[in-house]
Amino acid sequence: MSGARKIIIDTDPGQDDAVAILLALASPELDVVGITAVAGNVPLSFTEKNARKICELAGQPETPVFAGADRPLERKLVTAEHVHGKTGLDGPELPEPAMQLQDRHAVDFIVETLMAAEPGEITLCPLGPLTNIALALRKEPAIAPRIREIVLMGGGFFEGGNITPTAEFNIYVDPEAADIVFRSGIPVTMMPLDVTHKALSRATRVEAFRDIGNRAGTAVSEMLSFSERFDEEKYGTDGGPLHDPCVIAWLIRPELFSGRDCNVAIELKSELTLGMTVIDWWQVTSRPHNAHVVRDIDADGFFALLTERLAKLP
Ligand code: RIB
Ligand code: CA
Repeated sequence: MSGARKIIIDTDPGQDDAVAILLALASPELDVVGITAVAGNVPLSFTEKNARKICELAGQPETPVFAGADRPLERKLVTAEHVHGKTGLDGPELPEPAMQLQDRHAVDFIVETLMAAEPGEITLCPLGPLTNIALALRKEPAIAPRIREIVLMGGGFFEGGNITPTAEFNIYVDPEAADIVFRSGIPVTMMPLDVTHKALSRATRVEAFRDIGNRAGTAVSEMLSFSERFDEEKYGTDGGPLHDPCVIAWLIRPELFSGRDCNVAIELKSELTLGMTVIDWWQVTSRPHNAHVVRDIDADGFFALLTERLAKLP
């Protein structure tokens, strides 16, 4: 696709990851050059298979899917079956994927793709723990200046955390990897809980997905009906936060969002606040800005975009 923005989606599907991937595959503004799976919501054996199931659901089995890290850089893997179910994609009955997993390791794919592309051509879109991204930066530091931007879902500040009182899941699972990414000097746009908690998959919005009447819309409504029950109970809201599609929507319609450049630092030492993203939103330190932190969203516009694009799928 000429003119489309080339992206690599790094992901731990996860129902919300699935919606993000479907949005990307349905959007002509984006060219998904590959999907790299990482352990996170569920173990890697599930996340890589789920990524393939989602590509087939989108009718795009030619999208290359690669398996990456099956555990964080230094810590034991923490998963989130309590939210996403045992498979990570509970809700719809999706067939076993016929498309093959690529042989290459995800980290090698990321490095080789970036080294072969023009500098600034590729955007990385991490939707899970940042293990694969950190491993790629360690394997070949020369990729850093070649990456156009990293647009990631992770962290939280005013909203606190969701896996501990102070840490968001993606950062908490691999805080050392997050520290490498936020210290890398690569342009980072961050979608923290502060914005994703304003993107609630309310019943009327999920009904709109189902009313599209195609396979993708029906599957998404079934996914969200499953995964949002945990957050609805926890937050007492109508619907749960639709985290990962915020990353993709930002690439397509950035005007739906607003935020500011800040310093973001990752807590690595304290067991109490491990994985906290310390965001200097009020600029009270002289620490350098290393991320554009998004805090607000036009939620109606976001769900209208999602519904419009899901309708383009089979
Ligand atoms: O905290 C929310 C994030 O953790 C989302 O990316 C969700 O898919 C899980 O990976
Ligand atoms: Ca995710």
